[in-house]
Amino acid sequence: MRFGRRSWEISEAEVTPEAVFLERRRLLGFAAGGLAAGLVGLPRGARAAAVEGLLPAKANPAFGQGDTQTAEKAATSYNNFYEFGLSKNIVAASKKLPTTPWTITIDGLVEKPLTLDIDDLLKKVSLEERIYRHRCVEAWSMVVPWTGFPVAELVKLAAPKAEAKYLLMESFMNPKVAPYQSAPQYPWPYVEGLTLAEARNDLAFLAVGLYGKPMPTQNGAPIRLAVPWKYGFKSAKSIVRFSFVAKRPQTFWEALGPDEYGFWANVNPKVAHPRWSQANERRIGTEEMIPTRLFNGYEAEVAGLYQGLEKERLYM
Ligand code: MTE
Repeated sequence: MRFGRRSWEISEAEVTPEAVFLERRRLLGFAAGGLAAGLVGLPRGARAAAVEGLLPAKANPAFGQGDTQTAEKAATSYNNFYEFGLSKNIVAASKKLPTTPWTITIDGLVEKPLTLDIDDLLKKVSLEERIYRHRCVEAWSMVVPWTGFPVAELVKLAAPKAEAKYLLMESFMNPKVAPYQSAPQYPWPYVEGLTLAEARNDLAFLAVGLYGKPMPTQNGAPIRLAVPWKYGFKSAKSIVRFSFVAKRPQTFWEALGPDEYGFWANVNPKVAHPRWSQANERRIGTEEMIPTRLFNGYEAEVAGLYQGLEKERLYM
């Protein structure tokens, strides 16, 4: 995400010494303790993720017909994952995130709070593949096959109480492997949120695979959100916590730049970002320029969610 430099921003150059420091500490940890905690990567005794045995999942033909898929190489090498750097090239850095085992907490205003490993969560849901368009607020886009399950299934498992109005999703926090999380100017961990009505909409999806394979770390392993009618920043990666709350959560980007990135962030070609137009988008891989569509082309599925909310800043 590009933004004008503000007090809360830091440049790549300012952060690099921190990254170098962390890398050095990691190496020192390795030298002193052998295969001890300082070594990042798979912890000792880590098992293969259960998701591998569940892939490829059956494709749901209701999603993605008529869209040309983005090449896998393009979709998995041009990423936004600010925990690992400000550039699009974070593949190598992201691989330091250990994703097996992965504990997920479901809490807040629910009848059934749960803390469980993702492998156990996957036993409670059924996986399918859906091809979704994915439109970043920076005006680039992709068409990718996610494997996952509807957020609605997780909502059902949690059994939210009547007072719960929003679902908050929190990404991992691990500054030892994610150097940018040591930058105090950012409100880590990455937090996103949906209304419960949005979370229950059939399009809202929790993805654990991409192109029929386990989710690559750079795309948000082991579990990330995919809400294709909203700008990509809503789709939090590497989620560790789902919390049902009464008050609208302040999200990561809203905290950083409230005039540029809001809570709703629904795609609309007619509502420009304060610093650039949203009328068109660049397809990653082919570099084709195409017109952006209202709700990223998912108007029929989601427009009803926003009836009566016209006074809200729905499109930023
Ligand atoms: N989630 C976390 N935790 N950290 C991030 O920096 N970037 C967001 C979103 N989810 C981000 C995140 C943005 S801006 C976009 S466009 C998408 O992830 C990019 O997803 P992709 O790299 O799989 O295309």
